[in-house]
Amino acid sequence: MEYPTKLLLFFLQFTILTLHIQALDQTNSSKPQNSTTDPYKLLHIIQNPDGSLTRIKDYYPTVPPNTSSSISFSKDVPLNRDKNTWIRLYLPNNSKHVNLPIIIYAHGGGFILLSTATPNFDSFLSNTARQLGVLVVSVEYRLAPEHRLPAAYNDVLEALFWVKGKKDEWVKKYGDVSKCIIMGESAGGNIAYIVGLKASILTRELNPLVIKGLVLIQPFFGGVIRTRSELKLPDSAGLPLVITDLMWNLSLPLGANRNHPYCNPVLGAGSSKLEKVKKLGWRVAIAGCDGDRLYDKQVEVFKLLERRGVDVVGNFSKGDYHGVFVTETTKALLFFEFMRSVFYSYLA
Ligand SMILES: *[C@@H]1O[C@H](CO)[C@@H](O)[C@H](O)[C@H]1NC(C)=O
Ligand SMILES: *[C@@H]1O[C@H](CO)[C@@H](O)[C@H](O)[C@H]1NC(C)=O
Ligand SMILES: *[C@@H]1O[C@H](CO)[C@@H](O)[C@H](O)[C@H]1NC(C)=O
Ligand SMILES: *[C@@H]1O[C@H](CO)[C@@H](O)[C@H](O)[C@H]1NC(C)=O
Ligand SMILES: *[C@@H]1O[C@H](CO)[C@@H](O)[C@H](O)[C@H]1NC(C)=O
Repeated sequence: MEYPTKLLLFFLQFTILTLHIQALDQTNSSKPQNSTTDPYKLLHIIQNPDGSLTRIKDYYPTVPPNTSSSISFSKDVPLNRDKNTWIRLYLPNNSKHVNLPIIIYAHGGGFILLSTATPNFDSFLSNTARQLGVLVVSVEYRLAPEHRLPAAYNDVLEALFWVKGKKDEWVKKYGDVSKCIIMGESAGGNIAYIVGLKASILTRELNPLVIKGLVLIQPFFGGVIRTRSELKLPDSAGLPLVITDLMWNLSLPLGANRNHPYCNPVLGAGSSKLEKVKKLGWRVAIAGCDGDRLYDKQVEVFKLLERRGVDVVGNFSKGDYHGVFVTETTKALLFFEFMRSVFYSYLA
């Protein structure tokens, strides 16, 4: 048999098997969820007896920093050795780069997975530095459940102080700490939001570092009550609810539910710190698309910020899926264009 035919047959069999198992699950709901609906299997992770996770390495490749590239150079530097956190910096390969705005970045992965060195993320950040003419400071924060929230928030906040301290040669030589943007994708978008709120009352402590805005790319938020987009989209849209539920379960503080403000920031008219964000004049940019199960909550957050008088700009498009901006180069280019329109006085 020809190889492609074999592959197709395999795929069909797999699909049929999957449908069969799903049908079984639905007709016999007393049975424990298994195989395709077991989020641990879907994510290739195993929970150990002590509660920690084994993330099966084959599914979680990483790439080293890049010292010779026509796009951007990167390097890894420690953030906090006791916490085993570090930073990957990206400097555009341009003839002249001085006084670059600084993007402090948090990657996605539901707070429990992935790394700034995950190939897609690494290449997205390399392009971000080059396309926008910025120095990117991407934080390898601690993951849950080994370190539940607020650990990741504290690590990214610590990175802001690390930038302020200009302890690194690239930050000192090429960066302008008075033009910082906190940005993140998916769980990283959630982190950018919460860290932004925390930083809004630390402006004196962070000085001369100045934050100009927050960028939330398909941010990961939720709530106890399901939104329409959570319920209506098929599993093929990615991020089935068994996965997002598990991510919240493993990352929120013990005993909290999905109405915790880390997960559901729109309850009770949102954080009192939004008043501060408004006064500081930060711009908040949110990018999303309606093929993403998390879409409705992202729109809720956008509307909350608007109601609270925050300078918020949304870019909500049709179709696509969760993760599209960091996966597809053409969508990343559109996103960079959006960024330039929002922060037109700082970005290249
Ligand atoms: C899935 O099914 C197999 C065999 O029926 C069983 O051994 C396993 O414990 C099940 N896993 C879960 C998570 O229910
Ligand atoms: C930087 O980019 C230029 C132009 O593409 C290339 O010739 C050069 O080798 C790059 N520098 C490094 C150190 O990779
Ligand atoms: C470094 O960047 C270049 C693109 O400029 C790419 O071709 C190469 O694969 C990258 N190397 C690594 C180790 O990521
Ligand atoms: C996680 O799930 C368990 C079992 O369903 C539940 O008791 C616990 O409250 C959940 N924790 C969080 C943080 O969602
Ligand atoms: C999103 O931004 C891109 C790039 O600026 C633009 O082309 C597109 O029209 C925007 N879409 C929406 C819905 O605002």
